[in-house]
Amino acid sequence: MPTLLQLDSSPLETAVSRELTREFVNTWKNAHPHGTVIYRDLAVTPNKPLDAQWIFSVFTPDSVRTPEQIEALALSDAFIAELEKADEYVIGVSMHNFTIPGTLKLWIDQIVRKDQTFTYGAAGPQGLLTGKKATFLVATGGIYELGTPAGAYNFIEPYLKTVFGFLGVTDTTFVTAGGTQKLMSPDTDRATFLQPKLEQVRELVA
Ligand SMILES: Cc1cc2nc3c(=O)[nH]c(=O)nc-3n(C[C@H](O)[C@H](O)[C@H](O)COP(=O)(O)O)c2cc1C
Repeated sequence: MPTLLQLDSSPLETAVSRELTREFVNTWKNAHPHGTVIYRDLAVTPNKPLDAQWIFSVFTPDSVRTPEQIEALALSDAFIAELEKADEYVIGVSMHNFTIPGTLKLWIDQIVRKDQTFTYGAAGPQGLLTGKKATFLVATGGIYELGTPAGAYNFIEPYLKTVFGFLGVTDTTFVTAGGTQKLMSPDTDRATFLQPKLEQVRELVA
């Protein structure tokens, strides 16, 4: 039975990205009634920037790690186990300052680990998360279509494609709800605004 890993990263309960991941997961559950969904809300998962203890722990061989070093890597181990267990990932992403929210970056820092999620082979770096697919459901206040001048300010898609590709996840899909700043206006009806994006999300689910 397939397993889906759902991540949300917006700090807001009313987030557009959360509404999109919810739609994806509901559609996925209908398509896979016996499937399993692992859920991580990164906005409330305690995490912190990588520190010296974490870095030294990673570079210490498993067999000689101290209890403190094992503890320093516990969250990273848990996140990586979820990535390995899941067949596919759906990740809600808000645009914050032209890129991903800090909570998502902290999670990425925990999962990029040599000999766990990538290694160095004869041909250079090699991702170890193979056979997975990732869907990114993104919400941006402005509109930053790649290929347009404004697209140069969108660091979300190039960054996520690069880092997930580095880990071996090359089957990636992005759906972006651009222009959510319109939702601040009383002239914009939220349901009408979101309807085409929700439809696009439903169509993604096999
Ligand atoms: C801290 C913060 C930074 C933001 N930075 C940008 C930005 O750089 N560009 C942009 O178009 N919108 C920006 N926005 C607007 C959000 O991208 C927009 O509200 C989006 O819907 C957030 O996703 P969410 O609804 O899933 O939380 C920012 C919003 C916040 C709260």
